[in-house]
Amino acid sequence: MAGASERMMELAAELDAAGDLPAEWGEAFRAVPRHLFIPPTVWIEDGDRLVPLHREDDPEAWLDLCYANDSVITQVDDGEPVGPGLVGAEITSSSSRPDVVALMLATLEVEPGMDVLEIGTGTGWNAALMAERLGAAHVTTVEVDPQVAERAHRALRSADCKVAAIVGDGALGYEPGAPYDRVIATVGVQRVPHAWVEQTRPGGRILVPWLTDFHNGALLALTAHGDGTATGRVVGNVAFMPLRVQRGRRASLVRDVRDVGRARRTATDLHPYDVIGEYDASLAVGLKVRRCKLVVESHEVGYTVWLIDPWSGSWASLRHVPGAECFEVRQLGFRSLWDEVEAAHRWWTGLGRPEAGRWGLTVRADGQEVWLS
Ligand SMILES: C[S@@+](CC[C@H](N)C(=O)[O-])C[C@H]1O[C@@H](n2cnc3c(N)ncnc32)[C@H](O)[C@@H]1O
Repeated sequence: MAGASERMMELAAELDAAGDLPAEWGEAFRAVPRHLFIPPTVWIEDGDRLVPLHREDDPEAWLDLCYANDSVITQVDDGEPVGPGLVGAEITSSSSRPDVVALMLATLEVEPGMDVLEIGTGTGWNAALMAERLGAAHVTTVEVDPQVAERAHRALRSADCKVAAIVGDGALGYEPGAPYDRVIATVGVQRVPHAWVEQTRPGGRILVPWLTDFHNGALLALTAHGDGTATGRVVGNVAFMPLRVQRGRRASLVRDVRDVGRARRTATDLHPYDVIGEYDASLAVGLKVRRCKLVVESHEVGYTVWLIDPWSGSWASLRHVPGAECFEVRQLGFRSLWDEVEAAHRWWTGLGRPEAGRWGLTVRADGQEVWLS
């Protein structure tokens, strides 16, 4: 059975062979062992459920997870899981998938000598990778969850990595270390906090997963202009958990979906996959239809798409049956969420079905504006 360092080399070789490991980051990926940063209890997905895996119960399986090209779930429900193996638990911290980490580091366009602020320390692995290439004195990382931060700080110390690791709300950036040449958020935002723009040097880059209630991720690269504004566009496809202060309400089938019998019944020939499975479409729909959470419930045959507005209590469902050309829709509440989604899909089609990369954002002190180029 391969040991940790062999697995680390194998993972780097796998990413390299797939063209996912930029040359300038190769050394860091071969020098910073991911397993040092992964806690002894992680969570694995089993259908709709999350179940814990403890290193002492199965050290081989645990090490396999550390060196698979996959994200590792390291915290659920803010560290207070409602119960092992329950449906509906929320992933609240993870070590991102190594190829996504490599993609984001490449897209950050950071060079030795530059100062970087990371939002979302998580396990600390990404901060340690950056420290390996840029020097620890050039890396500041902020984590909001004290337990997660404490564990990351221990891991960073054990790897002798002396980055500035801060416990606090990353939405505020970290003023004492500013200005930064680069800001990298490893957590998603609906609204880009203006502190990140203010704390970035003119011409500096802010890389941030951008999400909506409906759609969970596009990578946005913004340039700070030094006048309190930043602009940029979508440069990639990533999925991240939301910034804690922007999480909004959680949608729950158990809590939010009621009175199924009273729901308005209609039918649609818009295939649900064309809306939720088509990346460009679902990004655009999410920009248009606000406060609409998407939950996909899988069945033995087919799946149900649930659209839930947990603020107003409106919901819609659409049952997908393989091979069908027409789908039953149920809607309840003052919003007709499926109708809104279908209208947004028509709007996107009318715009000529723009690809994700044509969307951009301008961030100012008083808010942000979405644009299409
Ligand atoms: C996907 S994980 C980050 C992965 C991390 N970079 C790594 O290398 O393991 C996202 C992290 O962002 C943290 N987070 C969420 N909201 C935050 C906030 N407002 N400020 C700082 N960190 C936050 C979460 O607690 C979580 O640990």
